Amino acid sequence: MDLTRDDFPKGFLFGAASSAYQVEGHGAGGAGPCHWDSFAATPGNVAGGADGRMACDHLHRHAEDLDLVAAAGFDLYRFSTSWARVMPDGATVNPEGLDFYDRLVDGLLTRGLKPMLTLYHWDLPSALADRGGWANRDTAERFAGFAELMAHRLGDRVWSWATINEPWSVSWLSHFEGQHAPGLRDIRATARAMHHVGLAHGLGMAALGAAGATKAGVVLNFEPGFPAENSDAAREATLRHGATFSWFFLQAMTRGSYPDRALEGLAAHLPAGWEQDMTTIAAPLDWLGVNYHTIRRVAPAPGPWPGKRAVAGPLAKTDTGWEIAPDELGALLHWMSDTFTGALPLYITANGMAAPDRVVKGQVRDEDRIAYLAAHLEAAKDAIAAGVPLRGYVVRSLLDGFEWAYGYSKRFGLVHVDFESLQRTPKASYHALARMLKGPVQ
Ligand code: NOJ
Repeated sequence: MDLTRDDFPKGFLFGAASSAYQVEGHGAGGAGPCHWDSFAATPGNVAGGADGRMACDHLHRHAEDLDLVAAAGFDLYRFSTSWARVMPDGATVNPEGLDFYDRLVDGLLTRGLKPMLTLYHWDLPSALADRGGWANRDTAERFAGFAELMAHRLGDRVWSWATINEPWSVSWLSHFEGQHAPGLRDIRATARAMHHVGLAHGLGMAALGAAGATKAGVVLNFEPGFPAENSDAAREATLRHGATFSWFFLQAMTRGSYPDRALEGLAAHLPAGWEQDMTTIAAPLDWLGVNYHTIRRVAPAPGPWPGKRAVAGPLAKTDTGWEIAPDELGALLHWMSDTFTGALPLYITANGMAAPDRVVKGQVRDEDRIAYLAAHLEAAKDAIAAGVPLRGYVVRSLLDGFEWAYGYSKRFGLVHVDFESLQRTPKASYHALARMLKGPVQ
């Protein structure tokens, strides 16, 4: 890694990311059942039949993990608060859960790290899933109560707040593609989930503001689409990909409208009176988080709307088969600030790759990950130099963890986790970033 901190503006922040269900160990500390528990308990949904019961046991090992964040020279730690840990039945508060986040935030501050908190990273209490989950408007309203509770408890110490991590994943990936909990493949549930997760964000923003929490925003994920073939049909399919991916939420949250190309297929399924919610959904943001890992090649497909499918592209791929396309991160950031967000501060809130990492003689030589991170950091640096208001970069992820439908079969961490012994081993990428962040050892 040839980059140094001096390649970025003064005050540019670097961080490492985790999320509750991926690392904490959901089986302990009084957490209630969440829809990922039952999704994982259903054969065929998660590789190896894995679940989040133990994960990295971050719940009990967070001190060691925060030491790793601080020792690398990061400025911030991005984490999420588990709704099902804090409200096990979706309503009653679990004091043990709240205490954990209290200790986590204090642990960050003691180490000089900024707490960057995401309220919802996918662990919906089963009690709310039982009532229809994100397809039910009530979930959005209850989310505002959760936001208010967390802001009252932690608002004096948290540096920045995000309402929802990846509304597209919460809705489309989970209700249309069926790949994440609750594993539905139903367009009506999808349209409702898309609307309600946006509404939850808007109501959450209002609740955070009322509770005095500062720096509130949202985290969207992007996979810029490219036609897989030279045809009008492929170009049209690619536009439908854009309209139904996170651009749907970007437009809703910055302009208070949905893309016409999305309404073509979704309007008939949206809840009655959805138009009245658009002002709430477009609550002014203090910042926007951009999760970026890869791009998507789109081909037309027969059958009902949206008539598209993803196909493999020609670029080099990560262990999850994702094409490595750092230049498109730069293009995305330019396009976003030019078209939608203007001077709004942007943060890259997840960037990283899976690799088949193994500990050999106490070391993990993840050279591919170092190259991946360096290339994306170069793209970020160039975008800043060209005027994009990018204020920070967060690596996904600190630890190997529960990778959703991949279970523990894909490793994204800067730090290797042995899922038998739970031993942590910083990888070469961790050391490379530490050298970049701290400068040469004197
Ligand atoms: C971003 C998601 O927010 C995170 O949970 C996931 O681990 C990574 N992408 C990799 O898929």
